Order: sequence, then C-alpha cells, then structure tokens
Amino acid sequence: MSAVVAPDLTEGVDENLMAPVRVAVLGAGTVGGSVVRLLHERSDLYAARVGRRLEVVGVAVRDTAKERDGIDPALLTTDAEALVDSADVVVEVMGGLDPARGLIERAMRRGAQVVTANKQLIAQEGVALHALADECGVGLDYEAAVMAAIPVMAVVREALAGDVITSISGVVNGSTNFILDMVARKGVPFEEAVRKAGELGYLEADPTEDLEGLDAAAKIVILARTAWGLPVTLDDVRRQGITGLTDEDFHNATGTGRVVKLVASAWRSGPAASPKVEVAVRPVALPQDDPLAMARGGANVVVIEAESAGTLRLHGAGAGGDETASAVLADVLRAVRRVGP
Ligand code: NAP
Ligand code: HSE
Repeated sequence: MSAVVAPDLTEGVDENLMAPVRVAVLGAGTVGGSVVRLLHERSDLYAARVGRRLEVVGVAVRDTAKERDGIDPALLTTDAEALVDSADVVVEVMGGLDPARGLIERAMRRGAQVVTANKQLIAQEGVALHALADECGVGLDYEAAVMAAIPVMAVVREALAGDVITSISGVVNGSTNFILDMVARKGVPFEEAVRKAGELGYLEADPTEDLEGLDAAAKIVILARTAWGLPVTLDDVRRQGITGLTDEDFHNATGTGRVVKLVASAWRSGPAASPKVEVAVRPVALPQDDPLAMARGGANVVVIEAESAGTLRLHGAGAGGDETASAVLADVLRAVRRVGP
C-alpha cells in the first residue's frame, strides 16, 4: 500500500519572487488591534501557508496619538480612503454603517478583496454589497461577524450546502451571555456586569445594540439568509433584549432550576421548495441541561438542525479580540488566495 502524502499547497510557489499582498486594516480597537498584532507575529507562518508575504500597509483609526500595543505607530493613518486605494485586501474592523460601507464599496470598485467583522453592516446592506462584490469580481467574507471564533458561517454556507437546514438557534451574543451569567450565577448587579463586559471588549461601541438584542438580531438574520437564501431583514425579527428583565425573572428561573439566556432563533416554515423563515430574539428561561444553557461567560453556542445531518452543535468564544481575529484572519488568508500575482 502506498503512503498517503499531504499535498504541499505552496509547492512551486516561491513567496520571495511574488509581490507581497498589501493588507489595509480599518480600525485598531479590540478586534483590529489583535488582527494587526497577529498578522505581524504569524508573518512567516502565513507566508508559508499561502505562498505570499502579507504586508500590512496601514491601519486606519480616528486618533493616531492613542497608544496601541503591538502596532507600529508609523502604520497609523486617519486617511482611510487613501489607505483603501493602496491595498489588495481591505479588512474592515471599525464597525458602524458609515464610513465603513463607503470604504468597502470603494475597495471593491478598485478590485480589492474585502473582509469585515461588521454584522450590522452585513445584516442591513449585505445583499447590495454582495451584488457589488459580484459586479467587481471580488470576494466579501465575514465569518467573524457571526459568533466571532465559532466557524458557523462556514458550516452553514459550505459544510451543509448539500443538506436542508430546518432550524438554527443559539446564544449568539457574548456580552449579554456574560452579563446574564454574572447576574444569575455570581449575584453581580446588572450595571456592574455591563461595565465588566465593556472592560473585556465584548460590548459594541453602542452597548444598546447588545442589550436590546440588535446585535443578536443581525447575526441571526445573516445566518438565516445564508441558510435559506431568502431576503430576511432586521425588520423580520421579533426582538426583545435583556434590559426589561427583573430580579423576579432571575429569581423565578433559579427557583425552577432554569437559567435565563438571550436566544436567537430562525426556523423554516412552509415546504422546502418555497420556504418561509421566522426569526426571533428573546430571553428564555431554559432547563439547566439544555445545550443553549451550557454557554458560560462570553461563550456562544448554536444548534443547527438539518434534514440529513441531524443535530449539530457548535460552542466557543463569541467575542473578544484574539478570538474574533481568529475568524478574521481565516478570511484574510482566503482573500489572499484570490489575489492575482
Ligand atoms: P472598537 O474596539 O470600538 O474599535 C473600533 C476601531 O475603529 C477603533 O480603532 C477606532 O479608532 C476605529 N474607527 C472607528 N470609526 C472610525 C472612523 N470613522 N475612521 C477611522 N477609524 C475608525 O470595536 P471592536 O470591538 O474592535 O469591533 C469592531 C467591529 O468588529 C465591529 O463591527 C464589531 O461589531 C465587530 N466585532 C467585534 C467583536 C468583539 O468581540 N469586540 C466580535 C465580533 C465582531 P480609534 O481607536 O482611534 O477610536
Ligand atoms: N458585542 C458582540 C457580542 C461582539 O457581545 O457578542 C461579538 O460579536
């Protein structure tokens, strides 16, 4: 029997002979800071993996005077447009709708590949952005936008491409899970738990997006669209956040052996040939042994039901700098492989 030898994906490619791939990073906060640092630390590893050097050509921020660990100050710029114009791959980790959308469109029109972690932008403008990406012949990837380190987009988009997904439900927001966990298990006051979630880098720039379920809504919309190919929007989500929860709600849940989680769900209604999708985000008191009740701290968990695969469960870090950067960097390497010589 002949030995099976793993293919050398970089065979025949001498990275020293090819021009480096120019990477622009828009944002150097919790996620961007980790992305830039890890691109630097793993420079040789990534060159070996993709057969090209990756060169960070700049990092766009609002304030270039702010001290930033692990980022060469010479890379910082407030001129995001000029930076975009100089790149082969643009990584948008600044958040918000504007100027992120305009910068991404500009990058695509100039032929750059785009990676983003921006779930609000993709939930609200993803259909138009995909159309522009197709028109421009570039990629648009956003694994990090949904459940950070957990590769749920790859599972729904690729691993289950031959199956029929019937439902997706999960704890998809790390900060509210952290807050609910602190309040219920450790007796920490709600406001104090919110403050701690902010210190850990889990909260959005506008924390009401987390607390009112908008962040979870954006994630479940993206998942539903990917799973069923239907034009699901944020307006379709029946949404309730965690700010209306009272001490009594926590007390009642604990008293009945339950645990309160912010659950995002999407399920197919109607036949497979002409499906409709229902989407909801709401706090639910779950039995302790429910898979969704297992998520602790900033963790996320998602359960996907598919006709042939059955039940799949993914569990891992749903927020945080390095954890989210893990997903961003996978997309960056995918994008780099699409860049011509
Ligand atoms: P963040 O800590 O607030 O960082 C945002 C960064 O973008 C900052 O460096 C900021 O510059 C820069 N920025 C914002 N607006 C800008 C503008 N108009 N021009 C130039 N630079 C601008 O945010 P984050 O937590 O890293 O999140 C970034 C994105 O990743 C968001 O879309 C978020 O939803 C998504 N995400 C975050 C996580 C997480 O765990 N944090 C997980 C998954 C996805 P200054 O530093 O100068 O202010
Ligand atoms: N604010 C988000 C959360 C960050 O708490 O889940 C990760 O998307």
